[in-house]
Amino acid sequence: MSLSRMWDLLTGRDRRAASSIDWDARYGTDTRSTVELHGLTIAHDSRRFGERYQASDPSALADAVAFTGLDPRLHRFVDLGCGKGRMLIVAAELGFKSCVGVEFAGELAATAKANVAAAGFKTISIVHGDAGAYAFPEQPFVLYLFNPFGKPIMERVRDNLAKLRRAEYYVIYKNPRERRIFDEMPTLRYLGPPPAHKGVWGVHVWAPRGA
Ligand SMILES: C[S@@+](CC[C@H](N)C(=O)[O-])C[C@H]1O[C@@H](n2cnc3c(N)ncnc32)[C@H](O)[C@@H]1O
Repeated sequence: MSLSRMWDLLTGRDRRAASSIDWDARYGTDTRSTVELHGLTIAHDSRRFGERYQASDPSALADAVAFTGLDPRLHRFVDLGCGKGRMLIVAAELGFKSCVGVEFAGELAATAKANVAAAGFKTISIVHGDAGAYAFPEQPFVLYLFNPFGKPIMERVRDNLAKLRRAEYYVIYKNPRERRIFDEMPTLRYLGPPPAHKGVWGVHVWAPRGA
């Protein structure tokens, strides 16, 4: 097995991800370059648990949605740690009812707003704030995470999910370093990775237990 194939298997990298290089050209957005958090304006204690900005491959969400068979038109989409907002635009393209991104770094939240304006989708909104404080909607939704933060914040997210009374939700988690939190949630059942995104750093999906 070649080294590059081994790397793909570990990271869940889909070769179609090469298309993400051109992705920004579609709407004139700026989502591609990685940004370290030091030097950014972050007015939250959770700063020390945050991971740097790095964009997901657009195919990660489309493939995960196809894998579950869920109907985006019946679900809201929430990206905790949305960075520059790429996955919100991908979700809007897929037809999600509404798309909310939460981002704690002021500069990234501002870029996300500019990108969303450039793409022209009215169904997307950006919350500039801490993901650990986000109150989920009491309506069906998909929670998207790309290794955004460490355990203390993920535990707050879990506690906020546990407050829900009616809403059913899927979790799509790329590079799921805190996956045990979702494995242990009684409301969820682990579905696995979409075929093109296997690997410990790949995309992993949980569905509502009843679905
Ligand atoms: C790996 S990037 C993922 C970006 C985007 N979700 C995507 O998939 O393209 C993680 C993002 O989470 C943000 N982040 C980290 N901790 C956060 C927190 N507590 N609240 C909100 N955003 C946070 C970072 O600033 C960064 O933009």
